[in-house]
Amino acid sequence: MRLPPSPFPNNIISTFFPFLLFLLQSITVHSSSPVQYDPQHAIAVNCGFLHNSTAVDGRQWVGETDSASILSFHGPGSKPVIPLSVDRSYSLDPTPYMTARASRSTFTYTFHIGSGFKFIRLHFNPVSYSGFQRSTAFFTVKSGPYTLLNNFNAFLAIDSLGLKSIVKEFTLYVPDDDDGPLSITFSPSRTIPSDETFAFVNGIEVVPMPLGLYYTMEGDAGAYVVGQTCGFHIGKDIAMELAYRLNVGDMKLSSVHDTNMFREWTDDLNHIIGSSVFPVTSANRIKYTKTSKDGAPHRVYQSSWSMNRNLQVGEEVSFTWKLPVDLGFRYLIRLHFCELDYEVKSGQKEFSILINNQMVEHKGDLIRWGVGIGVAIYKDYLVTVRGDRMMGKTDLLVALYPNNYDQSTEFVDAVIKGIEIFKLRNPDDNLAGRNPVISHPHASTKHRLRMRTSINDIATLIIVFVILINVIVHQFCELKERSWSVNISPSLIDEALCRRFSFAEISFATNNFDKKLEIGRGGFGKVYKGVNNGIEKTVAIKRLGSESVQGEKEFISEIKTLSKLRHKNLVSLVGYCNFGVEMIIVYDYMEHGTFADHLHKNKRNGGNNGDVTPLTWAERLDICLGAARGLDYLHTNSEQDVIHRDVKSENILLDLHWVAKVADFGICKVGTTSHTSTHFSTDVKGTIGYLDPEYFSTRRLTKKSDVYAFGVVLWEALCGRPVVDTRMEGEQRSLVLWVKRCFKEGMVDQLIVILV
Ligand SMILES: *[C@@H]1O[C@H](CO)[C@@H](O)[C@H](O)[C@H]1NC(C)=O
Repeated sequence: MRLPPSPFPNNIISTFFPFLLFLLQSITVHSSSPVQYDPQHAIAVNCGFLHNSTAVDGRQWVGETDSASILSFHGPGSKPVIPLSVDRSYSLDPTPYMTARASRSTFTYTFHIGSGFKFIRLHFNPVSYSGFQRSTAFFTVKSGPYTLLNNFNAFLAIDSLGLKSIVKEFTLYVPDDDDGPLSITFSPSRTIPSDETFAFVNGIEVVPMPLGLYYTMEGDAGAYVVGQTCGFHIGKDIAMELAYRLNVGDMKLSSVHDTNMFREWTDDLNHIIGSSVFPVTSANRIKYTKTSKDGAPHRVYQSSWSMNRNLQVGEEVSFTWKLPVDLGFRYLIRLHFCELDYEVKSGQKEFSILINNQMVEHKGDLIRWGVGIGVAIYKDYLVTVRGDRMMGKTDLLVALYPNNYDQSTEFVDAVIKGIEIFKLRNPDDNLAGRNPVISHPHASTKHRLRMRTSINDIATLIIVFVILINVIVHQFCELKERSWSVNISPSLIDEALCRRFSFAEISFATNNFDKKLEIGRGGFGKVYKGVNNGIEKTVAIKRLGSESVQGEKEFISEIKTLSKLRHKNLVSLVGYCNFGVEMIIVYDYMEHGTFADHLHKNKRNGGNNGDVTPLTWAERLDICLGAARGLDYLHTNSEQDVIHRDVKSENILLDLHWVAKVADFGICKVGTTSHTSTHFSTDVKGTIGYLDPEYFSTRRLTKKSDVYAFGVVLWEALCGRPVVDTRMEGEQRSLVLWVKRCFKEGMVDQLIVILV
């Protein structure tokens, strides 16, 4: 019963469980002996090196033999290694990055450093080491009951973030030595039956954490649970992984600035959204309270963003930080505040804070909170990010809205000085998310292995495939130029068509969201057929569920984007409704459903969709041409550059006259053409089977990703089968793998399904 609420709670559990938990955990804390904190017990191990050494920043790292009194090591199959080539590593500090311990079998470091709350930092320099190829470094790291990393590949991790090395930070409680000392075990991944995979580590830090810094002490309320009115107690049994530690509005602050705990603070430039902000820094001395004493170094509190001063009274401004996090976990969000302007009086600088679009502070006021000028404080919030943790990441949004109702615009700026986000372990004691890696859920182990062990081969294949698809698309475009006359339909009545519906109108049209009118559902919520309404025509009504990953910002952006896009081959926006928490988008109704329905859904559902007949080749070609034109318009003909990001046969809809319409712009990416770069760096979103592997591994989103996905659709049209066919065995389950195989072996004819 010590488990905290699951990340997928039902209502009763989510309402009562935190209280119960709070009680139980308070008891646990009461009954155990007090924990000691001694900063002297910090240790940093330079793995694969025997002797003590000093890093460039002056920090002492101990060697594996020189620290034998505190550290023991077990791993008969392991060996100390150095990078195969120093090119990639030479800009890194040799301590600890120039040596590593690597092994094709399990190895363990054990620390005799007493009990208490600890930071554990694992340092990785993912290059190839003598005898070990970096692309085969897939491993799991465990400590006590916790799985810290699972099937982790540091190379993929740095590549997606544009880093040279990576540090993974965890926090956990180490019980008394009687219960076994702290040990950290590295095991090469066993999910792949291979003697190729290996585990490695360059450095390990174990640093004591002051009592009550991130873990809740008895008598404290704990973190405020977003969307509820209770506190969440971060107890001893909760291991956490640092997701972000941002120094808002300032540069990276390296670990030496944080004397006892060596926490590194990174800049927030990649996360803040908003153009008219500028950094402000103060030299004021920062005062700390008893609780905020170890919160953050003073430099974190001395800087933040400020709004452009040319604001109009009443103009709405906000600061939003967009932070991609793994799906299916709870997160502790700590916001650091400090007021540095001596002229601010109570009520002059109010603000609201929203986390994932839920209000957590309304009319916040640092002065009213009883915090003096120049005093550092922080507040903790707990948010659950629902979803399947194997599905990758989603954006966690932290938004600050300075209230700007009156004359006090001169005081409008960000009061948030720092943001820390920790991922909490799940009830199964797992903290591991997934690699940004190509791994097909249904592909056989053999093929997954092949994918991982020969990234270069795969890259070549992908390039060949993309070229192939480009050729096909190009030929389609030429074909279409000859046979079609009008390309873009004239701008339909834009403002008038994108009308705002009242919630009553929507309820009426959907017969109060009648199940019988439900025509689709997805991660965004449900889609209803809207009939019997005052809109003259039948419409499709998409109601975003409260658990939808699509927030208000995305909702507004979809409407804004779609209302500007008009093309014969794009689904038209009819209007929207925004009433309280309800976010609803109204589209043209598509009589013939999705392209997927006609290609393979009828077969899969055992033919119970009686009205679905197979499409002829001419019809398929027409639909593909239409969809290609729609996509081409998105990529080239519109004012904004739009990358759809979720091209698939289910998002190609068919109207009464079988005209293909590209739909679902929920996760599309819009950029201005003035944007100098041709890609967006972003977390991976999309649908398995259609994801461009290059985008998947680099997170650099370009139009090519849409082209890749469209290529998969073309194969679907050709083969009449879904991208992942669970009825098939082995390689044939994945359309992409099967197509590649057939191509290679010259049996393309086997792919084509003969129409009956
Ligand atoms: C290495 O450093 C550790 C920790 O500071 C210390 O206990 C040990 O004596 C040092 N060993 C040598 C040989 O300097």
